[in-house]
Amino acid sequence: MKLGFLGIGLMGQPMALRLLQANYEVTVYNRTKSKLQPLSEAGAKTADSSCQVIQEADCIILMLTDASAIRESILSDEAKSHLANRTIIQMGTIATTESQSIRDEVVAAGGEYLEAPVLGSIPQTKTGDLIVMVGSTKEQFAKYTELLKCYSPEPMYIGEVGTAAAMKLALNQLIPSLISTFSLSLSLVQHLGVDVEQFMELLRQSVIYAPTFDRKLPRMLDRNFTNPNFPTKHLLKDTNLIINQAKELGLNTSHLEGVKQVIEKALTMGLDDLDYSSIYSAINPPEEKHN
Ligand SMILES: NC(=O)c1ccc[n+]([C@@H]2O[C@H](COP(=O)([O-])OP(=O)(O)OC[C@H]3O[C@@H](n4cnc5c(N)ncnc54)[C@H](OP(=O)(O)O)[C@@H]3O)[C@@H](O)[C@H]2O)c1
Repeated sequence: MKLGFLGIGLMGQPMALRLLQANYEVTVYNRTKSKLQPLSEAGAKTADSSCQVIQEADCIILMLTDASAIRESILSDEAKSHLANRTIIQMGTIATTESQSIRDEVVAAGGEYLEAPVLGSIPQTKTGDLIVMVGSTKEQFAKYTELLKCYSPEPMYIGEVGTAAAMKLALNQLIPSLISTFSLSLSLVQHLGVDVEQFMELLRQSVIYAPTFDRKLPRMLDRNFTNPNFPTKHLLKDTNLIINQAKELGLNTSHLEGVKQVIEKALTMGLDDLDYSSIYSAINPPEEKHN
């Protein structure tokens, strides 16, 4: 099976590399072409356009930012004309309805579509330990499980297209909520003169502890948000997806709307491309230095 890969960003880079390491023949394309260089050196064939990838591969994996990037890459008139007998595996984070409508257009053009969003980030990609959630038919899942094992020891079948996207959104909803609520507690103890390590010791013993707190604590204490695995701008993208989805269902999204304002504040502080734990600085702004 010849593979194609579109979207060589933070996640796409190590994901495409895993396919090469598993000896698949892979053609890659990225809008910013300079990002293709390391993969070319690792043995990937590089293409000049997403259409060329679709033409050359049987199965094309997508790790693009959002639904509009997907549409631009595979649903232009020209791209659609090459989709017959091709399989698209969409692995980015998009909404349920977006995934279903992209599926419908791919199928109408004669192709097949699976959604396979992932939980985990760059370190888990490098070791093949992502959680891969698959929305497809059972036959498609059986056919592509071996391929998806490049990313996860046990890809999980969730249900038809839309269900895996929904699972991913529900899990991701916890990220902005947990990180913002931890940031506020940490800021409180810092401002009120409580020892941070003592606070963490008590928190670790309690049922309200989550491992992400310790994972992000050093970044917050040092205000060092460089080398992100997941940037703040994508946290805002996901938060918007979740709010819209929940509102459509008539759910109360007030708390997440508040978190969204915190993330937007972080973006106005220029923290877009830094690690999402940088929203700590929007909750607890650094003191201004006076000369
Ligand atoms: N980072 C994580 O830890 C993580 C974990 C799980 C899921 N995800 C999801 O996976 C997806 C990719 O995340 P990432 O962190 O790899 O993001 P990223 O580094 O920002 O990469 C996004 C990719 O999409 C491409 N792209 C964006 N807009 C485009 C357009 N209009 N046309 C063509 N290409 C376009 C970018 O191309 P350029 O290089 O030219 O900008 C880049 O290759 C997102 O949906 C994200 O939410 C991320």
